[in-house]
Amino acid sequence: MKKRVLIATGGGDCPGLNAVIRAITLRASQEKNWEVIGSINAFDGILNEPNEILVLDDKKVGGIHIRGGTIIGTTNKGGPFAWPIKNPDGTWGSADRSDEMIRRLQFLGVDAVINIGGDGSQSISQRFYEKGLNIIGVPKTIDNDLSATDFTFGFQTAVQEATTAVDKLVTTAASHNRVLILEVMGRYAGWIALHSAVAGGAHVCLIPEIPYDITKVVERIYQRFDKGRGFAIIVVAEGAKPKEGDMYYEESSETGYKNVRLGGVATKLMKELKEGGLQTDMRETVLGHLQRGGTPIAYDRVLATQFGVRAFEMVLEGKFGQMVAYRHPNIVSVPFNEAIAHYNFVDPSSDLVKTARGVGICMGD
Ligand code: F6P
Repeated sequence: MKKRVLIATGGGDCPGLNAVIRAITLRASQEKNWEVIGSINAFDGILNEPNEILVLDDKKVGGIHIRGGTIIGTTNKGGPFAWPIKNPDGTWGSADRSDEMIRRLQFLGVDAVINIGGDGSQSISQRFYEKGLNIIGVPKTIDNDLSATDFTFGFQTAVQEATTAVDKLVTTAASHNRVLILEVMGRYAGWIALHSAVAGGAHVCLIPEIPYDITKVVERIYQRFDKGRGFAIIVVAEGAKPKEGDMYYEESSETGYKNVRLGGVATKLMKELKEGGLQTDMRETVLGHLQRGGTPIAYDRVLATQFGVRAFEMVLEGKFGQMVAYRHPNIVSVPFNEAIAHYNFVDPSSDLVKTARGVGICMGD
């Protein structure tokens, strides 16, 4: 009987997931005694009754590297350690179904699991590894907030989308003598904002790692106006916060969704700018999920393909309990506990922040 590797994609989707799935499958097909299956919607496919499994082969993965999303689906709710269950009184609680999942994997003849996901998914990987599961992680997130790897795939595509948005906003802002605010994703890290602000030539960039002083932002914008004429582009990360204040978020009411929902900082910033004395016309754009959907750019396809091939080779080598990572110029493996120990935040004294300041971008401080 052939050996089986199971792939799951968990957490928010990200351009490049399909390229990883394809790479694992194509590399595995070079080994005579291995076959690949995918669990639908993260590990839900194993826990659902009946199971939802997709057999993956060369034909199924043909051409998928250029497609966004994930052909096996994903979820950022619940999971095997906190499976949502409805209490008799109608409220929601959770159950630990991790042992059951391991039994189900044994029943399905799964010899190894490759879990493609961000920090939340890799914490799940670590917990499964501690329970004896042969599991390997592949890091994904547009936020680029995992410190174990130089880059996560999906990040550069998100930056490209955000940069395209800045480019478009410039022409309309200039035509109307307006200040246009672009809100981008990134959760608690300012990577997408910083990269797209530099690439697009924004005038202000606000990130969570550098709390802003609204008077400094107003000052910088007025430098760009002469007798009411001029324009300015502000790129604001969804997690940006003022010096005295917190980031803007809402608790989610979706069942099993543990994260707070960031988003809305652009509108809040516009109000603060008005209160801070800015009298120019202003509008805001929230890029939202446009930066997560669609075709991955070439860089992300290459990185995702490297991760996929290496992840399967780690299965062959029995390197379980580790996550594949990129440390220029190599693809390496890092133990889970090390991989999830620290976030990757923008260092305010880094060269990229200096570069941004060097071309006149106000970082809000
Ligand atoms: O972590 C990726 C990310 O896109 C964040 O940048 C964003 O805050 C969050 O996911 C949005 O999540 P959801 O798709 O659940 O709204």
